[in-house]
Amino acid sequence: MKNLIQKLPKAELHLHIEGTLEPKLMFRLAKKNKIKIPFKTVAEVKEAYNFNSLQSFLDIYYAGATVLIKEQDFFELTWEYLLTCKEQNIVHTEIMFDPQTHTSRGVKFETVINGISRALEKAKNELEISSFLIMSFLRHLSQKEAFETLKEAEPFKNKIIAVGLDSSELGNPPSKFKEVFEEAKKQSYKLVAHAGEEGDASYIWEAINLLHVDRIDHGIRCDEDEKLLEYLKQNKIPLTVCPLSNTKLKAVKSMKNHNILKLLKKGLHVMVNSDDPAYFGGYLNENYEALVKDLNMNEDELKKLIQNSFDASFLEGKIS
Ligand code: HPA
Ligand code: ZN
Repeated sequence: MKNLIQKLPKAELHLHIEGTLEPKLMFRLAKKNKIKIPFKTVAEVKEAYNFNSLQSFLDIYYAGATVLIKEQDFFELTWEYLLTCKEQNIVHTEIMFDPQTHTSRGVKFETVINGISRALEKAKNELEISSFLIMSFLRHLSQKEAFETLKEAEPFKNKIIAVGLDSSELGNPPSKFKEVFEEAKKQSYKLVAHAGEEGDASYIWEAINLLHVDRIDHGIRCDEDEKLLEYLKQNKIPLTVCPLSNTKLKAVKSMKNHNILKLLKKGLHVMVNSDDPAYFGGYLNENYEALVKDLNMNEDELKKLIQNSFDASFLEGKIS
């Protein structure tokens, strides 16, 4: 199975570019940009990656992101991830970025997006990897700030396919962002939102009924609501599931308890993604491998999950 996982061309739909910052690059950029980070050695970093919740991870993830200052830093971050995509035979990737994580520190929106886009363009030409960018609003901030970010994105609209919603879920339900998602839809963006990672099924309902999303990021708590399961199945709403992330952040007890294959068997449109691979112990292939090891995933299930990722992508039949 390991060989097959490696060999099959794959797509990734839920990946935070800031979550691909490997400790080595973090140290290099911290030194170059003279930024203080709360670690001295790679061992210390790894020690700090013992998370017990989404928030305990986010605190470290935002601290790590402070080393990204120059356009070249965003380019290198993205290029490193794309090289890994090549190694893992990921041929299409839809990458989230959090502009507010950077603009709040005085880094310009254009610095972020130009650095990332340059790497994506190079990967298209040199690595034959296609990609789209998803701009995520930080949900612990206000809707007003999300509107400001949407405005800042206007000159770069042709580089961004969708808007998303991430960061601290509990206490920040989708309803908080209803109007800004309405405006983004008017501007022809596709829509995604994290929901049902730590939040209950009501967060998923809100993302569907109030934000009108095209995909749900995570969505694993849908299994607490039979009606919701039926609705997701009937309407073929994709759930971009991230198994290693869910176990690392204790959204599920262990990989053996993960519901992804149960959801697949019920006919839901689930697929596998890596979320923040530098922090969660593996990229896309390692996520698939974990399902073989702990859930006895078979070849048909693997192929179906991969097919689902292409079907749910914003390529919409353009290639794949
Ligand atoms: N959930 C919410 N926000 C995030 C995540 C996540 O898994 N990763 C980066 N930002
Ligand atoms: Zn995520």
